[in-house]
Amino acid sequence: MDIIHPDIEKYIDHHTTGESDLLQKINRETHLYELMPRMLSGHVQGRFLSMISKMISPKCILEIGTYTGYSAICLAEGLHEGGELHTIDINEELIEKNKSRFHESGFGNKIIQHVGNALEIIPGLDKDFDLVFIDADKENYLNYYQMVMENLKPNSYVLADNVLWSGKILAENGSKIDKDTKAIIEFNNYVQQDSRVENVLVSIRDGLFLIRKK
Ligand SMILES: C[S@@+](CC[C@H](N)C(=O)[O-])C[C@H]1O[C@@H](n2cnc3c(N)ncnc32)[C@H](O)[C@@H]1O
Repeated sequence: MDIIHPDIEKYIDHHTTGESDLLQKINRETHLYELMPRMLSGHVQGRFLSMISKMISPKCILEIGTYTGYSAICLAEGLHEGGELHTIDINEELIEKNKSRFHESGFGNKIIQHVGNALEIIPGLDKDFDLVFIDADKENYLNYYQMVMENLKPNSYVLADNVLWSGKILAENGSKIDKDTKAIIEFNNYVQQDSRVENVLVSIRDGLFLIRKK
């Protein structure tokens, strides 16, 4: 399901600041060489993440789901002076290429890569995150949210990607749905009733939840 009319998408694209040469290269390489290039945030969402990060000016960012490093670089653009971004991915094949991408971006000394299962890595990160981007396996969205929410200080932010899940979140009650759709629906409902936060579901790309801990 197209969430936004393709002509409107094009219009949005043409009225959004362009990608840097490096981000364009990562976008191209991801489409040429990686499985499931649709996972990449891409131009408009990338600029949105960068803008949000610049507005918050976080000292410490956690990203769950690095993939080809595109969103990590966008988020790092807004880091407070001396800030750092921790990014986790289970796929160790990505690490070397991402290292050189982060170096090329100028954020090489600010982006710390962690390889492994985020569920096991997050509890060992003793950091005060003020911005968290959840963008890994959908079935663990709620687990990631619960893990990070416990330690977030008031006025910290969580962003969660793909929360419209190509429109599959509209599945009728009782209809047969796959486990990822079920997980996203449960996550969205949980956030909506969580009295610790205020939240806005933004219909950018595949849906992005903006969540603020009160
Ligand atoms: C949607 S992609 C991330 C896209 C990236 N944030 C961007 O916007 O360009 C999801 C990534 O999560 C990783 N992933 C999946 N399950 C994971 C887990 N349990 N722990 C850590 N990373 C995981 C995958 O290897 C994949 O690279």
